[in-house]
Amino acid sequence: MSKAHFGLIGLGVMGENLVLNAERNGFSSVVYNRTYAKTEAFLKGRGFGKSIEGATSLQDFVDKLERPRRILMMIKAGGPTDAVIEQISPYLEEGDLLIDGGNSQFRDTERRVADLESKSFGYIGMGVSGGAKGALEGPSMMPGGTKTSYQAIESLLSKMAAQVEDGPCVTYIGRGGSGHFVKTVHNGIEYGIEQILAESYDLMKRGAGMNGDQIADVMSYWNSTEELCSYLVEITEACMRTKDPIDGTDIVEKIMDKAGQKGTGLWTVISALELGAAVPTIYASLNGRVMSSMKSQRIAAESILKGPSIDHIDFGDATNGLPPLMDAVVLSSMASYAQGMELLRLASSEYDYQLDMPSIAQIWKGGCIIRSTLLKRIQDAFTLDPNLTNLLIDPWFAEQVNRRLPGLAKVVINASQSGIPVPCLSSTLDYINSYRTGRLPQNLVQAMRDCFGSHTYERLDKEGVFHTDWI
Ligand code: 6PG
Repeated sequence: MSKAHFGLIGLGVMGENLVLNAERNGFSSVVYNRTYAKTEAFLKGRGFGKSIEGATSLQDFVDKLERPRRILMMIKAGGPTDAVIEQISPYLEEGDLLIDGGNSQFRDTERRVADLESKSFGYIGMGVSGGAKGALEGPSMMPGGTKTSYQAIESLLSKMAAQVEDGPCVTYIGRGGSGHFVKTVHNGIEYGIEQILAESYDLMKRGAGMNGDQIADVMSYWNSTEELCSYLVEITEACMRTKDPIDGTDIVEKIMDKAGQKGTGLWTVISALELGAAVPTIYASLNGRVMSSMKSQRIAAESILKGPSIDHIDFGDATNGLPPLMDAVVLSSMASYAQGMELLRLASSEYDYQLDMPSIAQIWKGGCIIRSTLLKRIQDAFTLDPNLTNLLIDPWFAEQVNRRLPGLAKVVINASQSGIPVPCLSSTLDYINSYRTGRLPQNLVQAMRDCFGSHTYERLDKEGVFHTDWI
């Protein structure tokens, strides 16, 4: 019996869909799951009649694969991934390749690449984005590891990936844990844009008194513009339009306002702090989730801490996308991408990932959660200037900032006056205002540091390191 081209471990929804995707693209497959009952159910269900067979044990799984083996693990990040690596390693032979398609911490991947490569196995840490549908129809994939390992799976991944006008949404990212690092930052941007859209919903609902369908109409308009056409705006429209089948009201209003998180947003912020990258919009989105989870405290505080009463906020013509609110959402989304790209740039140099920024923008144009038409502009900006320090100073983006900044400021003022929290929008305003200010007040911070701790300071008017006896 001929051996299978491709193996998958972990029949969760992502794993199932990825193996169906591989099989559809001509790669006969073998699947293994910790509980065989799940494998059986899959083979009798969605896997029925396809070139997919099941394995009862890891040894059986490995035996059913052609050499060199290409094995994708879609299992829980952390301990479970280490456990499977340990269990399967005795059965692997030189040249076999393990691919971790979960949301692993990039430092875990660094360690695993070094460890596995030293045993002459290949190891790829690969970010996979696109949710269940993307996994089946074509995700965006971010593989990192050695180039040789990548080449062994390039044809498979290129066929499985989403396709955009200039190629598949997969490319070799770089050495070590770079693939998972890039996926982590992708998720940080994802957190930012989700929170930005949630803030705009709150402003439309509580500030402008709009209902679900009216908000959905604005989302639909935004999704028709170059600046906001994106998967996340598209699904926000769908979320806003969907009714509760029980009583026909907006279902979103029935959902508990506590956002979960699995770690990648936190890792983005930790990495940014470690590398000295300013990511305030992304950080604000993470804090937004943390604040949201304090539901009982917020309810208790509601009757103690009084804010301004909510005035009606006039954002202008809804058929024109509520112009100032659109300005705020456009600039905050751009800031999320800019901060993420800046973090990638710093990580690339610190960890020697040699990231190719235009290629990363290219593979995010399709398949992934943050896909948007803006990514074409981001790709162009980094193609024009591969050393671009901040996306917002690229000529096309700078024109957007200059035109839309008054709108963003107006929205933040209106929100503050109405007592509606807009952490991402206000952080973005401060981010842009800080970034475009040649002289910030940190001269005074330096003075204070020197005053209480003799930390010294530099001067604008002469070279050197100085100390003053302040008092
Ligand atoms: C993707 C997503 C996905 C992620 C979820 C949940 O690109 O397909 O980023 O990988 O796991 O979005 O993330 P949180 O639970 O942390 O919001």
